Amino acid sequence: DDGLVVAVDGPSGSGKSSVSRAVARALGLAYLDTGAMYRAATLWCVRQGVALDDAPAVTAAVRALPLEQGLDPEAPTVLLDGDDVTAAIRTTEVSAAVSAVATNLDARAALGDRQRAVIAAERTGGWSGGRGVVAEGRDITTAIAPDAPVRVLLTASEGARLRRRSLEVHGTADAAAVAATHDQVVRRDAQDSTVVEFRTAADGVVTVDSSDLSFEETVDALLAVVRAAG
Ligand code: C5P
Repeated sequence: DDGLVVAVDGPSGSGKSSVSRAVARALGLAYLDTGAMYRAATLWCVRQGVALDDAPAVTAAVRALPLEQGLDPEAPTVLLDGDDVTAAIRTTEVSAAVSAVATNLDARAALGDRQRAVIAAERTGGWSGGRGVVAEGRDITTAIAPDAPVRVLLTASEGARLRRRSLEVHGTADAAAVAATHDQVVRRDAQDSTVVEFRTAADGVVTVDSSDLSFEETVDALLAVVRAAG
């Protein structure tokens, strides 16, 4: 039997990365963070001196992206040309620039091909030994793995998402920190949603709203969706 594929989409601050990692850990599955691929592609362009508004140059750079991504949910490391960029891809500079790659349809196609190849490999072997993969991003339930047996849209109210991102980035969720986070989160989601729809669930996708759930409760809610798909 082929391994399991759990597809999780959601906006920034929905908690989808940490929740998806925990679900992968609980089920012994590989963890594929597709946002990390977009971030690594963006950092690669910056490091190679590729102008982010030069779409053909960005596409060429992304097609040749020297990316190695760890699929172990305990250590989802990201190597770029052998250099560990796991932390470097999380800076506000990369977050602010990533939409240039995400809205480039040829670059999306190139990254999408890699994502499908990882998912296919994990279903029969790969890091998980064929147990399968939790793949997380913006278009996994709709474009990358629309036939995954488990598909979840993880949402949360704007207020909850801003609080979480603010805590993550600034270590506090006071008014000033939330205001500083607002522009980033809301603008990035608005830019991203011009090319991928991740705010409403596609047909057959289960919505989990984490606004009033703790981290553990959200993980349990996803595990319940997986069990129900049995
Ligand atoms: O999830 P994360 O915030 O790390 O994603 C970074 C960016 O990558 C998103 O803002 C979005 O522009 C892009 N992305 C995407 N499609 C995905 C995953 C991420 O366009 N499947």
